[in-house]
Amino acid sequence: MPSTAFNTSYEAHSAEPEYIETNRSLIRSLDLSEVSRLLDLACGTGLLSDLVLEQRPGITVCGLDLDRQQLKLTEERFGEKGLYAGNGASGAARGLPSFILVEGSADTLPFASGTMDAVLMGNSIHNLPDPGRLVGEIRRVLRPGGLFAFNSAFYAGTYVPGTEKFHQAWVKEALIYVMNRDRELRAKGEPGLKRKRGTVSRASARRWLLPREWQDVLESNGLRVSRVHEREVRMTRRSYETVGSYGGFASVVLAGYPVELACEALQAAVQPALDQTGFTTVPARWLEMAALKPEGPDERAKENR
Ligand SMILES: C[S@@+](CC[C@H](N)C(=O)[O-])C[C@H]1O[C@@H](n2cnc3c(N)ncnc32)[C@H](O)[C@@H]1O
Repeated sequence: MPSTAFNTSYEAHSAEPEYIETNRSLIRSLDLSEVSRLLDLACGTGLLSDLVLEQRPGITVCGLDLDRQQLKLTEERFGEKGLYAGNGASGAARGLPSFILVEGSADTLPFASGTMDAVLMGNSIHNLPDPGRLVGEIRRVLRPGGLFAFNSAFYAGTYVPGTEKFHQAWVKEALIYVMNRDRELRAKGEPGLKRKRGTVSRASARRWLLPREWQDVLESNGLRVSRVHEREVRMTRRSYETVGSYGGFASVVLAGYPVELACEALQAAVQPALDQTGFTTVPARWLEMAALKPEGPDERAKENR
């Protein structure tokens, strides 16, 4: 059985070397020289914050996520490095750089307007039900001239032509795994597996957007896009197994089945899908986008209206 079967957090995938490198490349593409207050939105295990602090040690970072389990992992990561000693004054009092953690939703930010120099959002922008509202909130908390950057592996363009067959085989093999488990249970006289309908959120069910469409969302909500890049990465067997072990992914792909079983099935299905389609690694693309909040007298007049 794959080793990560019963840890359904994002921990396993966020520790994969190619995942870290992909995110490090995003951070290196950004000019963070004027950044001293940064918000890591949907921070997960805190990887992006960690990569930023490699470049800009000592700045104030706030990580925000909806999921307490992920926040706990961020807390541990920065606690071990001696960078987090609890929210509030305790860290500052002990001479630690401020690292703040907030549980909440990325589209309703508990920060005053104009307080952030930069907002980053790693592989999660596609999760939000109303991207316009999200970008409006990001624009509000940024100072004029502030930077917003995101990456996403869930957009129209992520599948390199010719690789769709791997993704189809992966899901098909995972469903076969679930059906086999159902048969085993029934053979033992136990109740079979019931698939619950309607478990997928509106955001997860939405179609993936094109780079041009994401650019329009940012620009129609008051940001000026400065960089659009599609980065190709090679996904290994282990990358897909750790993606499969993440409950947030498995609960969408195999919606309605118990999440631990969905994770187990997606991990077990990787090798058969690679064998069937003849891939040893699979190329995939990430979308990266950076934008600035405009500054100048006209913009300030708009803000005050
Ligand atoms: C795929 S993980 C990415 C984590 C991290 N940003 C990274 O790049 O490694 C997606 C994260 O988005 C969080 N998330 C999903 N919807 C959210 C929302 N509405 N507000 C805040 N966080 C959210 C999940 O809890 C999860 O930690």
